[in-house]
Amino acid sequence: MPFRTIIEPFRIQSVAPLRMTTPAQRHEAVVAAGYNLFGLHALDVMIDLLTDSGTGAMSRDQWAAIQHGDESYAGSPSYDIFREAVQNLFPFKHVIPTHQGRAAEKILFTALGGKGKAVPNNTHFDTTRANIEYSGAQAVDLVIAEGRDPANLHPFKGNMDVAALDAFLSSHSGQVPVAFITITNNSGGGQPVSLENLRQTSAVCRRHGVPLFLDACRFAENAWFIREREPGQQDREVADIVREMASLADGMTMSAKKDPMGNIGGWLALNDDALAEQCRNLLILTEGFPTYGGLAGRDLEALAQGLREVVDHDYLRYRIRSTAYLGDALAKAGIPVVQPIGGHAVYLDARALLPHIAPLQYPGQALAVALYESGGVRGCEIGTVMFGRQADGSEKAATLDLVRLAIPRRTYTQSHIDYVIEVCEEVARKAKALRGYRIVAEPAQLRHFTARFAPLA
Ligand code: F0G
Repeated sequence: MPFRTIIEPFRIQSVAPLRMTTPAQRHEAVVAAGYNLFGLHALDVMIDLLTDSGTGAMSRDQWAAIQHGDESYAGSPSYDIFREAVQNLFPFKHVIPTHQGRAAEKILFTALGGKGKAVPNNTHFDTTRANIEYSGAQAVDLVIAEGRDPANLHPFKGNMDVAALDAFLSSHSGQVPVAFITITNNSGGGQPVSLENLRQTSAVCRRHGVPLFLDACRFAENAWFIREREPGQQDREVADIVREMASLADGMTMSAKKDPMGNIGGWLALNDDALAEQCRNLLILTEGFPTYGGLAGRDLEALAQGLREVVDHDYLRYRIRSTAYLGDALAKAGIPVVQPIGGHAVYLDARALLPHIAPLQYPGQALAVALYESGGVRGCEIGTVMFGRQADGSEKAATLDLVRLAIPRRTYTQSHIDYVIEVCEEVARKAKALRGYRIVAEPAQLRHFTARFAPLA
């Protein structure tokens, strides 16, 4: 290609206003929210990088597909269109729609979890871990050592530690109903898993007779990294790589709010007939009839179209490059970020930027609040606030204290991101003046969503 600039492979057809706010307004808003950014009113946020989940822009063709939705309670043709789009990439026998990813997790772990069981993963996402633990089972993270080191440049830091998995399955024989692998590894920095590692993980699981499921939220981004980084994959279609990833697993849970480009949706897909029947029965209890799950027919149509768009190479090249654009600029400015830059987000290393704030004083929270107060940028703490509380009620430092700046798909332009870079630089300049926090109120589970904080003196 003769030009260096990778342009957005779309033009904007419909826009939503973005409200400008002052530092004083933002201070007032964050105090009222108990310094928890989940408690903010979204209109008080200028650039919302809280999540890439359900916050992206749908395409013209997805909106058109919505008009095609059929809202029949049972046997909707929109379900067939959805199922065919899923199976085109993930040819599992049973495809069970749910309203989002955690509903699929809840159903699966209700069927498979329970006291005395254990579920390994490279790194469990918070809802996955919570659903496993809620069932009484244990959630175990077995990512490779490089995946725990924010500065390590390993190209596939999401990889499973295959030897550790093998040992775990031996020592927990009969206790592991399913093993998981999360692509890309969100809680570990949006890092990809290599095809070779998936093959080895799959082989170990098969040898132990344990089914392997994908937590496949960001499968297309993962496949693009495989195409870019893994020897011998450079000439392959992303869709083809995805099909190979699926062939190595026995099922999947999915949040369709990520790579399928939906504002809502998810699914559970699997090959086992008896387990599928059990899951469909649970689905009917809380989500709905198996041809719509928790979704409207129109949602199923939008997701089918999103699945066609997300494996487009021009889209993925732009997606991965634009995330790296933010991360590279921050690294160049001396701000510690998880390397290499992940697919959907840039992760700031708050513990490294704020060494004067101890992990139990939540450096990630301090950084996230500062980014908001300074520039109206909302990120998300992924660290001791999110993971520090133990099952017995005690608290310990998480492996890392990060702030995730997640990029909604096709939503912000390069000038928005240039602004975010400036805000981060400004906060980094005054890093020494930032203070830690203490928690003044928290719920028993998933505390990061609703806990209230107070700044330390
Ligand atoms: N698994 C992973 C790896 C996720 O990132 C998420 C959601 C889920 C499962 C649950 O899916 O939200 O549709 O119920 N992650 C979002 C995030 C919320 O911000 O990273 P869901």
